[in-house]
Amino acid sequence: MPEFTFRPIGVLRSPYHEPAGTPIQGAFAPEAEGRAEVFDEFAEGLDDIGGFSRLFLIYAFDRSEGFRLKVKPFRDDTQRGVFATRAPKRPNAIGLSIVRLIAREGNVLRLAEVDFLDGTPLLDIKPYVPRFDCREDARSGWLEDSRDRTIADERFVEGD
Ligand SMILES: C[S@@+](CC[C@H](N)C(=O)[O-])C[C@H]1O[C@@H](n2cnc3c(N)ncnc32)[C@H](O)[C@@H]1O
Repeated sequence: MPEFTFRPIGVLRSPYHEPAGTPIQGAFAPEAEGRAEVFDEFAEGLDDIGGFSRLFLIYAFDRSEGFRLKVKPFRDDTQRGVFATRAPKRPNAIGLSIVRLIAREGNVLRLAEVDFLDGTPLLDIKPYVPRFDCREDARSGWLEDSRDRTIADERFVEGD
């Protein structure tokens, strides 16, 4: 299989500078505001985005090194297969956040419910469409019985 390289389309800004202390999901951080600064060459691609209240952001966990196939996720102390978690250390260190769009201002999207570090490279943006993306019958696996942690600790910091 070929390998792929992606070039960032912009940079994500947030109040968080260290993994520990950052929300583990934006759903737990309704007040956490940030922004996506899209590079000028891609800004026209933001046209028509203002009608969507939620967006998927796809980005690189650029401060994550290496991976393990079994991890203790933030919400558990049991080892789980990495693909059954949202852990930032993964074979392809790709993050996926659903954020709330406050406003588009030119090449900048003002956002809330952010769970990424300041300076995170942005790879793609897609609109969240309930009809496409919301499945009421979805099961949550081991997370159905997990603990209530909402903020990251140091478990995936470099060297762990
Ligand atoms: C559990 S992940 C979930 C991220 C995303 N919502 C997902 O499901 O892919 C969120 C945690 O990743 C870490 N993180 C966020 N941005 C990062 C980055 N650019 N590099 C490395 N770790 C990051 C922070 O510790 C944050 O609390």
